[in-house]
Amino acid sequence: MRWIDGLEAAAAEKLPEAVYRYFRQGSAGGISAAEATAAWSSYRLRPRVLTDVSTVDISTTVLGTPVAVPVLVAPTTLQRQADPGGEAAMAAGVAAAGSVLGVSSNAGTAFADLGATGAPWWLQIYVVKNREVTLRMLDAAVAAGARAVVLTADTPVVGRKEDDGPTVWEVIRPGDLLANLDPGEYTDADLAKADDLTPDVIGWLAERTGLPVLVKGVLRGDDAKRCSEAGAAGVIVSNHGGRQLDGAISTAQALPEVAAALAGTSTELYIDGGIRRGEHVLTALALGARAVLLGRPALYALSVGGAAGVTRLLTELGAELEHAMRLVGSPTLADLTPDLLSR
Ligand code: FNR
Repeated sequence: MRWIDGLEAAAAEKLPEAVYRYFRQGSAGGISAAEATAAWSSYRLRPRVLTDVSTVDISTTVLGTPVAVPVLVAPTTLQRQADPGGEAAMAAGVAAAGSVLGVSSNAGTAFADLGATGAPWWLQIYVVKNREVTLRMLDAAVAAGARAVVLTADTPVVGRKEDDGPTVWEVIRPGDLLANLDPGEYTDADLAKADDLTPDVIGWLAERTGLPVLVKGVLRGDDAKRCSEAGAAGVIVSNHGGRQLDGAISTAQALPEVAAALAGTSTELYIDGGIRRGEHVLTALALGARAVLLGRPALYALSVGGAAGVTRLLTELGAELEHAMRLVGSPTLADLTPDLLSR
């Protein structure tokens, strides 16, 4: 059996039930979460033959940072429930694979402890009602060497989860979350998500941090264009792993429209949601993404194998991508173009 396919079941064995359920779940009826992977698998490939694929190169750069594999790790919470090392273990695994890591605003590891792993990392930010709290987190991330800010834009309110049984909030420990804020310096009301954001927030974040800003959660071409015009260095096509608006379009379906809207701009295009195979990565790159991000698979790999599990996940997907590139007759990432696909 393919190791990656067994990860979720192995993680389910190992994790407390409420944590596993939290990692896996989607919002509301779970429609978007359930169809994400199938949407990638619905594409068909039109391989080129008689091309020299004796050397295949899957390395690239993401916002100027070189990566050995165009598969990055998406920001997710509660990594200390997956592994005692939490985000630092995730970062060590990512560094060994030569990739880049998104770090959640809700991380349970001090940003300063990530730097020691040598992994390049991007801070994911939820702008909250109390902007002073947001600014404190941004400053801490800049001081600790974050290379970019990922603004999560799909969360004016948190998606409704329909749990039966104990929720994860009943089992988490102090320190699992929000390790980068001083507990005396905020209230729950301060941390409510800002629901009045406009594209101006992109410039505000860029100015405060001096870092490139990516907007995560874009599913429409017109929104991607607004972000690009407001100065976004990158856009991440995402429906938050089906955890925000249930019934939101799959990212595999949304990507062509967003790629068309960003054509000719310098805004880099990324995508996440349901990507589980090298052929899915290939499809996303052929549709115009520069790299993909993984959420749940990275959490499951961390749960099952710690840092080494994360390295193995990224390396095996890279090897699958390379294999698939040989079979479609594309020796470089630049050769991955939309004409390779059919629906
Ligand atoms: C997430 N995601 C997420 N996104 C974000 O911007 N900030 C966050 O704190 C979190 N937390 C989080 C926790 C868990 C348990 C999951 C599963 C996801 C969303 C994540 O970054 C990404 O968009 C999706 O997980 C991608 O889909 P796949 O790869 O999980 O299918």
